[in-house]
Amino acid sequence: MIIGVLGGGTMGSGIVQVAAQNGHNVVLVDLNPTILNKSKEKLAKIMARLIEKGKVTSEEADAIQGRITYSQDVHDFVPCGLVIEAIIEDLKIKKDAFAKIEGLVSRECIMASNTSSLSIASIASSLDCPERCIGIHFFNPAPLMPLVEIVPAVQTSQQTLNTTKELIDGWKKVTVVCKDTPGFIVNRVARPFYGEALRIYEEGVADFATIDWAMTELGGFRMGPFTLMDYIGNDVNYTVTETVFAAFYYDPRYKPSFTQKRHAEAGYWGRKSGRGYYNYAEEVAMPEPNRDEELGRKILNRILVMLMNEAYDALFLNIASKEDIDLAMTKGVNYPKGLFQWAEEIGPDVVLAKLEDLFREYGEDRYRPSPLLRRTVHEMVS
Ligand code: NAI
Repeated sequence: MIIGVLGGGTMGSGIVQVAAQNGHNVVLVDLNPTILNKSKEKLAKIMARLIEKGKVTSEEADAIQGRITYSQDVHDFVPCGLVIEAIIEDLKIKKDAFAKIEGLVSRECIMASNTSSLSIASIASSLDCPERCIGIHFFNPAPLMPLVEIVPAVQTSQQTLNTTKELIDGWKKVTVVCKDTPGFIVNRVARPFYGEALRIYEEGVADFATIDWAMTELGGFRMGPFTLMDYIGNDVNYTVTETVFAAFYYDPRYKPSFTQKRHAEAGYWGRKSGRGYYNYAEEVAMPEPNRDEELGRKILNRILVMLMNEAYDALFLNIASKEDIDLAMTKGVNYPKGLFQWAEEIGPDVVLAKLEDLFREYGEDRYRPSPLLRRTVHEMVS
């Protein structure tokens, strides 16, 4: 099958590489010729590195690169069996692109979006055959991150879902199927990793370095929340938080934080601007955490129970299966354990008791336990 990719930026380039490495001929279309050149050069560099490391032979690298056509013209999508869109996150622009491409490709061609935050149903509504539309959400960097969220819209046919899942599984990715709701699995369930960490900081419980230390050293997370937000970029992460908050009709659980907003406004975006929650200038030493274990455990447990509550609530609302939610968090954002597995080890009753304590203490809806967590505990004791 020939794969089309629309948009040759960060995600599009990565998806092109994945498809070509899996033996497909690929057509990459971007409006901007400079981006196309950059994408080509970047892949050549990556291939050179893979040859150096002995991961591919120079013949394989040549074959991979030789399978890719770079173009500014969507007419080159005509022979494609799947087109994946990875352009700017703007609904109108995406819908226009989908409608235009549908007029060119065959009736069987599947049309997918890599959107992180827009509804697949609304993108699909731009098509005459919305049954062929689906979300295929890769994580950055696409060639390295194993997880792909597959998101059928209400209009998507079972056949589109089956063919898509089979294809992406064949690319040696870990696929999870999830409902077309804001943030899909990962960007929904992970909200408290950032939000509760920011809240703990705002309350003056601990500073950035201490919270990061608690999550990495005591919790086993690969990166602390503030290091991770600095890596993602506070501008990007703040915008996602605001979008998710609005998309959930302002559910207080997803309320953005002023601390992050001010950091984004100040241009403290993180690594890319040289300063975020931390200062990355060479001459500046990283702050030392307060390694008080009791304080660290308090921080870790508070963030963990909030994450577990999100996982229970996502399952309660049938966003995805329990297995897929655990897979999504371990393979998409490298959590040390699946949240259900972890909650079962700690004991759902302990998780519920901690949430109820928080809910009592603050009287805020953000700490309300999921009905499924309550039901699980109730069934344990009865
Ligand atoms: P990017 O800004 O790096 O690339 C977008 C590319 O699309 C640019 O090269 C631009 O020239 C091109 N483009 C814009 N309008 C076009 C059009 N009408 N026709 C053809 N090309 C067009 O963006 P990025 O980060 O790659 O994101 C793309 C999509 O992937 C977005 O929907 C985003 O939400 C999603 N996504 C982004 C992730 C990330 O970490 N950056 C992760 C997962 C999904």
